[in-house]
Amino acid sequence: MEHIVTTLPTARQPGCPFDPPAELIDARRHGPISRYPFPDGHQGWLVTGYDLVRSVLADSRFSSRKELMRHHPLIDYGDIEVPPAPPGEFLLMDEPQHSRYRKPLVGKFTVRRMRLLTERIEQITAEHLDAMEKAGPPTDLVTAFAKPIPSIVICELLGVPYEDRGRFQDQIDTFLGGETSDEDLIAAYTATQQYLAELVAAKRANPTDDVLSDLTDSDLTDEELRGISLILLAAGFDTTANTLALGTFALLRNPAQLAALRADPALTDGAVEELLRYLSVAKTFMRTALEDVELGGQTIKAGTTVILSYNTANRDPERFTDPHVLDIQRQDGGHLAFGHGIHQCLGQQLARVEMRVAFPALLSRFPTLRLAVPAEEVALRPETADIYGVKSLPVAWDV
Ligand code: HEM
Repeated sequence: MEHIVTTLPTARQPGCPFDPPAELIDARRHGPISRYPFPDGHQGWLVTGYDLVRSVLADSRFSSRKELMRHHPLIDYGDIEVPPAPPGEFLLMDEPQHSRYRKPLVGKFTVRRMRLLTERIEQITAEHLDAMEKAGPPTDLVTAFAKPIPSIVICELLGVPYEDRGRFQDQIDTFLGGETSDEDLIAAYTATQQYLAELVAAKRANPTDDVLSDLTDSDLTDEELRGISLILLAAGFDTTANTLALGTFALLRNPAQLAALRADPALTDGAVEELLRYLSVAKTFMRTALEDVELGGQTIKAGTTVILSYNTANRDPERFTDPHVLDIQRQDGGHLAFGHGIHQCLGQQLARVEMRVAFPALLSRFPTLRLAVPAEEVALRPETADIYGVKSLPVAWDV
C-alpha cells in the first residue's frame, strides 16, 4: 500500500541527536518512496531509500533548477514565487549553465591540490588548539575550533580576507541555521551581496594568488563571480564545521569508538567517512521531474518535486549493516553524504583533508576531552536548518 507522509518532522527524537527524525526512519520502513503532499497542496514525493536517492541524483530527467522547486516545506514563504538562481549559484542549476560555473573550479579542488594544503591546515589547527589550551576549560568547541578552521581555509583558498568574516559569516549562519524570519533572510542575503560586490571589485583591481582572482581572468561577469563566491563560502565552512562539532559529540557519546580511534590513528580516514555517513549534516535536497519518470514502482509526473532524504538513505538497512550504529571500522562504504551525480560535492576532498587533520589533532591534544554539560543540554539546530548540527558544544578536559 502507498505510504503517505503528511507532515515533515521539525525535530528529532529526544535523546537521539544523531539519528534522522523518527518519522523519516519510519517512512523508510514502509518503503523507499512515500507520497508527500506539500503544505501548498502540491502532490510531491519523499525518497528515503539509498538506491532510489542515488538513482534520482544520477538522472538528468530530475532538475536542480531553483525555480522549478516547491518552497521548502518547513519554511513559510507565503505566496512568493520561487525565482531562478542568480547567475553563478550553480548548485541550483542544470546543464549547460551548471558546467559553465563548475568546470573552471574543478581543477582547483582536486585531491592533489587539497593534499598540498595539508600543511597549512595542520598549522591552522595547531594554532587553535594552542589557543584552547591557553584559555583552559571549559570552552565552546564550535567557536574555538570547529568553525574557525574550515572558515579560515576557505577564505584563504578563495582570497577572502579572514578579518572580513564578520561581514558574511553570521549572514551565512542565518541562511543555513533555519531559525530566521523572511525579513532577516533577505537582509542577510543583501548584506552578503554587498560585501561580495566589493570583494570582486577589489580582486579585479588587484588580483592576488587565489581562486577568486584566477576567476577574474575569464569571461565570467561580476554578478556571476558573486554567485560563485557565495556558493563556495556558504558550502565551504558550515558543512565541515558542523561535521567536526557534531562528530566530536558523537565520538564522545560512543566511548568504545573514540578509544579505538585514539589507539590507532590509522583508523582516521575510515572514521571520517563513517562520521560523514552517520551524521549526514547536509540532510535533504530537492529535485523536480522534467518529464514523467518511473521510480520505485511509482510514476513521478513531470513538474513534481521530490524531496531526497540523504540522511535516511545513509541509514538504509538494505544498504548498510546495522545502519544506526557508529562503526569507524565499517567495511560497507559508498555513503551519499556528499551527494552523487553532477552536483556531487565540489569541496569533498577539501572537507576530507580538514577532518583528517582536525579530529586526530584534537583528540591527541586533549586525551581527557569530555562534554562540559549533560548530553541532553547540548543545543541542536532544528530540522528547518539546511545544515544540521550543534549550535554550541561545551567541552572540558583535565589540566
Ligand atoms: C562535511 C562537509 C561537506 C558536506 C557534508 C557537503 C555536502 C554536499 C552535498 C550533499 C552536495 C550536493 C548537493 C545536491 O545534491 O544538490 C554538495 C555540493 C557542493 N558542495 Fe559540499 N559538502 C561539504 C563540504 C564542502 C566544502 C568544504 C566545499 C568547499 C568548496 C563544498 C562545496 C560544494 C559545492 C560548490 C557544491 C555544489 C556542487 C554542484 O552543484 O556542482 N562543500 N556538498
